[in-house]
Amino acid sequence: MNLKTNKIYHGNCIEVMKNFPENSIACCITDPPYNYEFIGHKWDDSEVKRRTERIKDSKTMVKNIPYGSGLAGGVRNKRWYEKNRQNDLEYMKWCQLWTDELFRVCKAGAPVAVFNSNRSIAHVQIALENSGFYMRDLLVYRRNSGIPRGLNLERKLNKKGHTDAEKWKGWHSAFRNEWEAIVLVQKPLINNYWNTLQNTNVGVFKTVNEDGSFQSNILENLNKKEKNEKFAHCTVKPLKLIKKLVHILVPPHKDNIILDPFAGSGTTLVAADELGFEYVGIEIEENYIPIINERIEQAKMERKIKVDLL
Ligand SMILES: C[S@@+](CC[C@H](N)C(=O)[O-])C[C@H]1O[C@@H](n2cnc3c(N)ncnc32)[C@H](O)[C@@H]1O
Repeated sequence: MNLKTNKIYHGNCIEVMKNFPENSIACCITDPPYNYEFIGHKWDDSEVKRRTERIKDSKTMVKNIPYGSGLAGGVRNKRWYEKNRQNDLEYMKWCQLWTDELFRVCKAGAPVAVFNSNRSIAHVQIALENSGFYMRDLLVYRRNSGIPRGLNLERKLNKKGHTDAEKWKGWHSAFRNEWEAIVLVQKPLINNYWNTLQNTNVGVFKTVNEDGSFQSNILENLNKKEKNEKFAHCTVKPLKLIKKLVHILVPPHKDNIILDPFAGSGTTLVAADELGFEYVGIEIEENYIPIINERIEQAKMERKIKVDLL
């Protein structure tokens, strides 16, 4: 099969990728569902609905979040930890299904950057490595924000009427989450970087910044949303951040195709298009497909207006 590029495929990426030719993708930048929201498994719609129903008269919001999130309510007994563990293992198994297909379609030396929650990034990494990818780095996307979450012990004890609650001021069950993890793996090289680059046009990273500094593995000051960057997706990533990833991971070449198998509102695809690369997206939710196409068209129009104004 010849891979049709600049196209969004509708369907489950595990199945859709099976129809893609092997060794055809130069880079994958993706943000799959985290283990508490993924589709078609235990924590699907019906389970979330069941939990929501159970707590409809309570003010607690987190109780409808399944075990995998680590935020689920409930007594921290043996069963709770076992359920959590089971959920992690199931998630890893599911990851392995798409990482296997992804490995097949990537060219030698292709970098793959995958976002995930700090709690479950290791599971994604192991699945990628089990599929054959080689671990390169754990990039930090620093957001400079993050809501303190988890249990505020002083508040909890106060509510329960403990007289010495104040003693626990400032003690929580979790830290403020200020960064997101991006696991960076690579399909094995053909002997060395130069050989690989000559064969597949990928393998090395762009490390010199505009100000002459050397690119670090902490990505920051990239979270400001650009104008018109409000799309109907709850987990949209900043375009600036994804453009930076494309820029540092993929040498410009006409044959370098960028893939996002979990396209969402299409940020990776817009970034690829803006930087002159061919792209391929896959999205399981049909409703997102017109949103992605509209977004790409809008970005193209804005670029044209800029050129016309010059
Ligand atoms: C976290 S969102 C991606 C958001 C994206 N980074 C953006 O900026 O808009 C993950 C997306 O993957 C889609 N998805 C989940 N399972 C999928 C599957 N098996 N195949 C393809 N898409 C899937 C979901 O519908 C969701 O839109």
